[in-house]
Amino acid sequence: MSFLEISDDLQLKLEDVIGRFIAILGIRGSGKTNTAAVLLEELLKFNFPLTIVDIDGEYWGLKEKYEILVVGKSENVDVEIDVEHAEQIAEVSLSKNVPVILDVSGFLYEDTYKLLLNYFKRIWDLAGKYRKPYEIILEEAHEFIPQGIRTDLKEVLVKIALRGRKRGLGAIVVSQRSAKVEKDALTQAEILFLHKVVHPSDLKVYKEILPLPPKDVGNLVSSIEVGECIFYYGEICRPVHIRLRRTFHAGYTPTLGEVKSPTLKTISEEIIKSIKELTASKKKKMDKIERLEREIDNLKAELREKERIIQRLNEELEILRKIKVEFEPSAIFDLINGNIKEINKEQKDEFENLPKEVKEHAKRLVNRLNKLSNPEKEILRFLMVREPEEYTYNQIAEWIGYSLSTIYSNTPKKLIRLGLITRRRKRGRYYFRSNFNNFIEREFQIYFPKIDFEDLKIIKEHIKSKII
Ligand SMILES: Nc1ncnc2c1ncn2[C@@H]1O[C@H](COP(=O)(O)OP(=O)(O)O)[C@@H](O)[C@H]1O
Ligand SMILES: [Mg+2]
Repeated sequence: MSFLEISDDLQLKLEDVIGRFIAILGIRGSGKTNTAAVLLEELLKFNFPLTIVDIDGEYWGLKEKYEILVVGKSENVDVEIDVEHAEQIAEVSLSKNVPVILDVSGFLYEDTYKLLLNYFKRIWDLAGKYRKPYEIILEEAHEFIPQGIRTDLKEVLVKIALRGRKRGLGAIVVSQRSAKVEKDALTQAEILFLHKVVHPSDLKVYKEILPLPPKDVGNLVSSIEVGECIFYYGEICRPVHIRLRRTFHAGYTPTLGEVKSPTLKTISEEIIKSIKELTASKKKKMDKIERLEREIDNLKAELREKERIIQRLNEELEILRKIKVEFEPSAIFDLINGNIKEINKEQKDEFENLPKEVKEHAKRLVNRLNKLSNPEKEILRFLMVREPEEYTYNQIAEWIGYSLSTIYSNTPKKLIRLGLITRRRKRGRYYFRSNFNNFIEREFQIYFPKIDFEDLKIIKEHIKSKII
């Protein structure tokens, strides 16, 4: 039978650990990371595939004895990865039984969040297919499974912890703030290593979890020292002194004497190579996508320009058809047509003559504005050409030919937030007006303080004409 050697007087059966929800709690410095590392050393002894979420870069020392792939962003990684590689790494880990350390110590919180969300969603889905033993280890669990707050990441992590067993998934969660981890989840942990706590709210959690009189819990907790914990599993509830981890402890509190760097094992070249290729090919693909998107944007802009010209010509044509003429109509048509071309060309030339950075900024703005929803663009265009007139919802709806319900379900909140239009309440009604001129002036004066009024005018006309 296979055993995990946790301390002189504690062994756990490997099969008892598979698929369980394990919690390691206690204040900073009480020995949690050591306890987690001991569990991991014991699991790795059996080539158990797993993922460690390493927040502070404390686990890479496991490579001293075991083959583990370290990915993420820090000086200790085998391969640097970005958020978008999360799913593929999860796939490699689960399908090829590769133990992985996700070293996120170099990521911003937002990216860590996205990385973990995509990673563990994939793990959850794939585990449904593979159904084999797999462990996840999460440090700083209060950050990702916070009490009382719902997030997508929390949802998938809690799912793994509470319902992963059927799929072979087990979870070890580690936290220094027991009271800040979702209580409904934490109280369902099946194996607990409760290190020292001092905060009354954390102690209260222990009292709720342990099957002892509250007073006894208080006494027991106050007597335990670094590396000791109350071990609680099924019928067993007793103090245990966890053994020290055998591999290098990167987060080790330095004392006298030098800390030697370990000689590390590396994971098979083949796997590292395939992961490097994966990140490279993904980058190539992204580059190509970006290029094509830009090309499409340009072509669309050209198309819009042409459509605009057609529309103007049609309008002129309408007018001409209505005019009673005494001489050849086509002469007037040519004349006006020529004029319009001339005006368009002039406008275009004027814009083209602006400094490159200004033009680029204008293009970026056009792209941004064109990402607005159609109803919003419709409203903006309507108000823009009528600035500074004010209009009510009803008037706007009537003018642009939308039903009132369409307008109401597409209130131009974004336009207001961006400062493109303003809204004010007068006698119980909302009035909207364009703030486009102001908006453009502000946008450009921030970046180009010396820009003159004439140029701003050209830019305004240009941008107006490009919002389609
Ligand atoms: N089981 C143990 N036996 C002896 N010393 C320990 C043990 N666990 C931890 N320590 C000591 O306590 C320090 C902090 O432990 P660590 O596991 O990093 O705490 P935490 O993760 O709770 O902050 C370690 O550097 C180590 O010196
Ligand atoms: Mg720690």
